Amino acid sequence: MKTSSVARPIDTYHGRQLFRRHLLRWYDCHKRDLSWRLNRDPYRVWLSEIMLQQTRVTAVLEHYERFLKRFPTVKTLSAARLSSVLAVWSGLGYYRRARMMHLAAKTVVNEFNGKFPETAEQLRKLPGIGRYTAAAVASIAFNEPVAVVDGNVRRVLQRMLGRNLIEAESWAIADSILSGRRPGDFNQAIMELGATVCLPRAPKCLTCPLLGLCKTRGEGANELKPSLQQKRQIGYTLDQRDGGVFLVQRAPDIQLMPGMWELPEISGSNVEPDACMRIRHSITVTDYTVFVAQGPPPAGIEGRWVLPSRIPKLPLTGLTRKILREAKII
Ligand code: ADE
Repeated sequence: MKTSSVARPIDTYHGRQLFRRHLLRWYDCHKRDLSWRLNRDPYRVWLSEIMLQQTRVTAVLEHYERFLKRFPTVKTLSAARLSSVLAVWSGLGYYRRARMMHLAAKTVVNEFNGKFPETAEQLRKLPGIGRYTAAAVASIAFNEPVAVVDGNVRRVLQRMLGRNLIEAESWAIADSILSGRRPGDFNQAIMELGATVCLPRAPKCLTCPLLGLCKTRGEGANELKPSLQQKRQIGYTLDQRDGGVFLVQRAPDIQLMPGMWELPEISGSNVEPDACMRIRHSITVTDYTVFVAQGPPPAGIEGRWVLPSRIPKLPLTGLTRKILREAKII
């Protein structure tokens, strides 16, 4: 990484003071108007932080409102059936997050009388809450001065300091620059800066409030690893009779999306010629070309005919939901 000298780098006391001041001022003017910033209700904050893990803000927005409408409080979530929670989560992926949230909601209701624990240390004891989520909820909802580190924060700090940081260093540095007065806003501000200005490939340095404190000014943008995205083909059959759609349930003991419902899969090579629909779908490192053929499922496959009105109540895989929407069935 090429670095330039700055008058007050953030490894000095004054540099850290300026960092806080510039960053918070920028955040106050430029923060995005996101639903979870409406208030500091820990349930809303927790839900947003879980959804935002591994998922883009735009995808979360739509699901967040839907989830809150269906489960407006930790109590309603704890009382729900897991299959209903998974059905509302459908499309967000990484379903383990929903299972863990459901367990954590039960713990909050049964062991904490429905009140969220207020410190990061206590929050970490809940299912599905790791160091990042505990610190995010404690700082945003309860104003506890604990720093967060995610991919965006780490990149901002690395660029500011002009060197690569190992995980432990990132946490220590984030802690050292945190605003003690407004820790929740500070944490959201540094993540927001990483998400909207200090971008991985094309940082917008000219609009950055921290340009004068930054040792690299966007250097390192091209040092990131090339994408390892793979390409695959996959095929499904879509069979509709008497208003019903034939769906199959994934095994309950598999690692990926256990127990969720989907269309019958057929091996990719012989699908393309019969396909009536072709869509693209990306999951983590794989870009799928999905072919859907209208007609009966492969012989011997076990499944169930489901009426379209019942389908939204089932925990569908995100891809199945996408196909059924495209086919105007749901
Ligand atoms: N990324 C994850 N949580 C966030 C938040 N609360 N604000 C900005 N970016 C985030």
